[in-house]
Amino acid sequence: MKVLVATDKPFAKAAVDGIRKVIEDAGFELALLEKYTEKAQLLDAVKDANAIIIRSDIIDTEVLAAAKELKIVVRAGAGYDNVDLDAATANRVVVMNTPGQNANAVAELVLGLLVYGVRNFYNGTSGTELKGRKLGILAYGNVGRNVARIAKGFGMDVCAYDAYCPADVIEKDGVKAVASTADLFRECQIVSLHIPATAETKGSINFELMNSMPKGAIVVNTARKEVIDEAGLIKMFEERPDFKYLSDIKPGIDAELNEKHPDHYFATPKKMGAQTAEANINAGIAAAEQIVDFIKNGNERFRVNK
Ligand code: 3PG
Repeated sequence: MKVLVATDKPFAKAAVDGIRKVIEDAGFELALLEKYTEKAQLLDAVKDANAIIIRSDIIDTEVLAAAKELKIVVRAGAGYDNVDLDAATANRVVVMNTPGQNANAVAELVLGLLVYGVRNFYNGTSGTELKGRKLGILAYGNVGRNVARIAKGFGMDVCAYDAYCPADVIEKDGVKAVASTADLFRECQIVSLHIPATAETKGSINFELMNSMPKGAIVVNTARKEVIDEAGLIKMFEERPDFKYLSDIKPGIDAELNEKHPDHYFATPKKMGAQTAEANINAGIAAAEQIVDFIKNGNERFRVNK
C-alpha cells in the first residue's frame, strides 16, 4: 500500500517524520513529493499511489485519471475546494479533510495580522489598540471559534454570523450572534472571513458589504481569495481612505494594491495561516491516521464526497 505525500508547500520536518511513522507502523510505504514545480511531476508521482495526502495541491480530473490505483485523498487541512469532488466520486476515490487540525494556527495569524494593521504596519506612527473594538466573525467553524477565543483575550467585543450554526451555539461562547452577513458588516468595524470558497460564496464579499462597515473598517481574509469581489475591493480603496485589507492569500490584484495602497493593504508573500509546526503535525498525522483507518477498517468518518 503506497501513500504519497504531495505538498507543493512542504510540511515541517517533524510532521513528515510523524506521518512516516504512522504509515510505516501500519505496514504501508511512504513516498514524498515536495515543492514540485510542474504538474507533470505530480502526474508521475500519483501513478502507483493508493492514497495521497495533500494541502492546497490541485487534484483535478487529469490527476485522478493518472492515479489508476488511488483509493483515497486526504486534504490535510480544512478547505477542499482544490479537489474535484465529482471527478473523485466518479473514479471511486474517497476524499477527506482533517477539520480543526490547523484552526488555531490560522486564528493566531488573524490576530497577528490585526495587530500589524492597527499599528500601521509598524511604520512608527501612532496606531490603535484592539481592546474594545467590535470584531465580526463570518462563519463560526473551527477557525472562527478559535478567533473568538483569542479575540476575547484581547478584550474585543466579538460578534459572529454563520448561516449553518444556530445562534444559541454561538452565544454559549459569549459571542453575540447577529442575524445576517449584512448585519455583521454593518455593525462591526473589523470583519474576519472564515467562509469556504463555494459557488455561493465566491465574489460574495462585495463593495456594498464592505462599504457598509463603520469608519476605520478592516477586513481580514485568511479564508480564500475567491470569496472577495476584487473589483469591489479596488473600489473600496478608491472610495474609503479609512479602509484596510489584511490577508494571507494574495488577491489577483495584489501588485496593484501593494503599489497604490501600502498603508492600507497587506498580504503575506505566501499563504501562511496553517504554516506552523503544530498545525503541520496535527493535520499531517491526522491525515495519515485517517488513511490507515480507512484502508484497514473502512472508516469514512471525515469523507467529504458522496
Ligand atoms: C485550509 O484550508 O486548511 C487552510 O487554508 C490551509 O491551507 P494550506 O494547508 O495550503 O496551508
